[in-house]
Amino acid sequence: MSKKLFKGSSMLNPVPVVLITCKNQEGKVNVFTVGWIGTACTKPPLITVSIRPSRLSYEYIKQNGEFVINLPTKAQVRAVDYCGVKSGRTNDKITESGFLLEDSTQISVPMIKQCPVAMECRVKSITPLGTHDLFLAEVLAVHVENNLIDAKGKIHLEKADLISYSHGEYFPIETKAIGTFGFSVKKTNKK
Ligand SMILES: Cc1cc2nc3c(=O)[nH]c(=O)nc-3n(C[C@H](O)[C@H](O)[C@H](O)COP(=O)(O)O)c2cc1C
Repeated sequence: MSKKLFKGSSMLNPVPVVLITCKNQEGKVNVFTVGWIGTACTKPPLITVSIRPSRLSYEYIKQNGEFVINLPTKAQVRAVDYCGVKSGRTNDKITESGFLLEDSTQISVPMIKQCPVAMECRVKSITPLGTHDLFLAEVLAVHVENNLIDAKGKIHLEKADLISYSHGEYFPIETKAIGTFGFSVKKTNKK
């Protein structure tokens, strides 16, 4: 493979794209789009989110230390983009996107009813990094749409029509698995 050299940048693509709901001290709820998000730890369940201090949502999350990560679907891609280019300072993005809010169970911030998966999070630490601050948060509860769970209790996120973001473009996520955990070392029955 012949490769071209670029200067250092965050070229980890594709990334999941999520809608984060948050709330300020006066009870005003906002939503914004996030791509710089990652799994940090299994036990306790920790997630990292990188947020620029200039975002209105940054202020909201810093104020009450809670947020919800909502996983959007292909059908919501226009709203995902909209919530990532407009600010709650000038627009009521929740109403304009037609999002309905639903109470969370562990925190005061509501989740988006139309998103099939929602994670209730509480901030544990905020680390300034440069352009973005890194929010480390614990996932206190996870909500999964019933029709994504089979009779055995297995969650089928591949059926949720989730989307990813790659270098400026939104993509649907493959629905057929091309491998399962550990398949590369699994012994096959040779007869
Ligand atoms: C696909 C996409 C991914 C984004 N990811 C992030 C991110 O990870 N962190 C961040 O601070 N802003 C991110 N943004 C930008 C914010 O969503 C955007 O600035 C938004 O208008 C902030 O809204 P607010 O001022 O209402 O909080 C992203 C935008 C898009 C479209």
